Amino acid sequence: MTQNNSPILITGGAGYIGSVLVGQLLADNYRVRVIDNLMHQQDSLKLYIDNKKLEIVHGDIRNETAVKQALEGVSAVVHLAAIVGDPACEKNKQLATAVNKEASQMLSTLAREQKIKRFIFASTCSNYGKVEAKDGYVVETSRLKPVSHYARLKVSFERFLTSQKSALFSPVILRFATAFGMSPRPRLDLTVNEFTAVLASGEKLEIYGENFWRPYCHTQDIARACQLMLEADESMVAGQAFNVGDTSQNFQKKTLIELILKELPEAADKVVFVTKDEDPRDYRVNFDKIKKTLGYTKTKTVSNGICEYIDAIKCGQITDIHSQRYRN
Ligand SMILES: NC(=O)c1ccc[n+]([C@@H]2O[C@H](COP(=O)([O-])OP(=O)(O)OC[C@H]3O[C@@H](n4cnc5c(N)ncnc54)[C@H](O)[C@@H]3O)[C@@H](O)[C@H]2O)c1
Repeated sequence: MTQNNSPILITGGAGYIGSVLVGQLLADNYRVRVIDNLMHQQDSLKLYIDNKKLEIVHGDIRNETAVKQALEGVSAVVHLAAIVGDPACEKNKQLATAVNKEASQMLSTLAREQKIKRFIFASTCSNYGKVEAKDGYVVETSRLKPVSHYARLKVSFERFLTSQKSALFSPVILRFATAFGMSPRPRLDLTVNEFTAVLASGEKLEIYGENFWRPYCHTQDIARACQLMLEADESMVAGQAFNVGDTSQNFQKKTLIELILKELPEAADKVVFVTKDEDPRDYRVNFDKIKKTLGYTKTKTVSNGICEYIDAIKCGQITDIHSQRYRN
């Protein structure tokens, strides 16, 4: 697929990842349409408000009329809108099901009916759940064992999308690693960002599950993966799932703390390791497929992201780290 005059629709384009993707696509001269209900009262797209290549629809993907209008004339969809994260989905299961499953199915069905071929879906490496093989890495064909309502909904929609693949409809599933790094809508409820912000603010940080592994990927690199999937030859990507991240960026939480303390040695006595079995996700992910298929490589490490949040706290770009605007 090449750039043409038709816009790309980004659902959830005002979110943490979406607002980075919008900026990247506009910089590369794409026309972009966003549909977002701004549920976090975010003004993350204000930077681009005067850009003639951007259209913003303040609407809800549960609303069929709004979705039909948003889909009109677009060449592809990147579907990011969701109730995001385990806690947010547990808190309001009904809403999560309505958005992450039902509205997502309606959106992809309408896109297919309107002959919009490429449909890129933001799924998650959380779908792998707890991985028993201690030294093993999961790949795209590994069994999905979701352990939360959030991940079960993602798996369910992945299956629906895959079943819809045809000569006229090319869904692509991207399983993002846990994101970190700056965005016009910073999030402080994600591990790397949260740990860094708390310690950079001189507060105490409690860590549970210190030995648990998780993969991490910078917002800019996640956005680059979405763009790559818009531009990739159909035969390379249609109907497939790709993990998005880099194998070298799997870390245990205790290693994240070591990386943060390299930058903030004065915070060492603020870290407390506790026992609590709340979050059973523990997995290491292999990211060779996206590298081998599309030549995708990361441009930023977790340490880069740590420095970004330390700078944001130190220069006053982020002030109240407990504000609800930074959380889902
Ligand atoms: N951030 C991560 O670590 C991560 C990891 C894996 C997958 N993902 C997936 O990537 C996508 C983006 O995540 P994010 O971190 O940017 O989260 P986010 O919450 O910042 O973005 C989601 C966006 O969707 C919008 N939205 C929610 N419900 C909507 C509705 N009914 N109609 C229209 N818009 C709606 C929100 O206003 C928000 O702008 C999500 O699908 C998420 O599941 C994120």
